Amino acid sequence: MCLCLFCICFCHFLSFSQCVYLGGPVSNKAVITQRPSWSQIISGEVITLTCEIQDGADTEWEYEWRSNSSETRPYSQHWVFTASASSHGNYKCRGKKKMDPYTSTAWSHPITLTVSRKLNCFTVSLTVEM
Ligand SMILES: *[C@@H]1O[C@H](CO)[C@@H](O)[C@H](O)[C@H]1NC(C)=O
Repeated sequence: MCLCLFCICFCHFLSFSQCVYLGGPVSNKAVITQRPSWSQIISGEVITLTCEIQDGADTEWEYEWRSNSSETRPYSQHWVFTASASSHGNYKCRGKKKMDPYTSTAWSHPITLTVSRKLNCFTVSLTVEM
């Protein structure tokens, strides 16, 4: 037998379990965009990923990010970072309603970042005296 209070259940003297809310997915779609949008990113470039919730303007959203389907990043709509070799991978996002955090959109289609190493270039300047 468990005694539950605000969704925390005390089942024995020392153990307790937490109830799980299973919020259904919402129908809004999450779409991820990348700026700059070219597919070959050079190490050192600043990348902005934006998570857009379609038809979601009337709702306040929180955002969740995944890279390589594991890491989760903070809850903001934009994720700005400087690309490095380790930025290589898949990125996706989804939205959660701020007022109803157990309800989220499906994950966006992932985008793939390919990061190339910066080329070392020489700058040759010519001064032409006229
Ligand atoms: C994704 O995985 C690849 C291969 O394991 C790794 O090289 C890369 O750094 C990872 N990217 C991120 C953003 O974690």
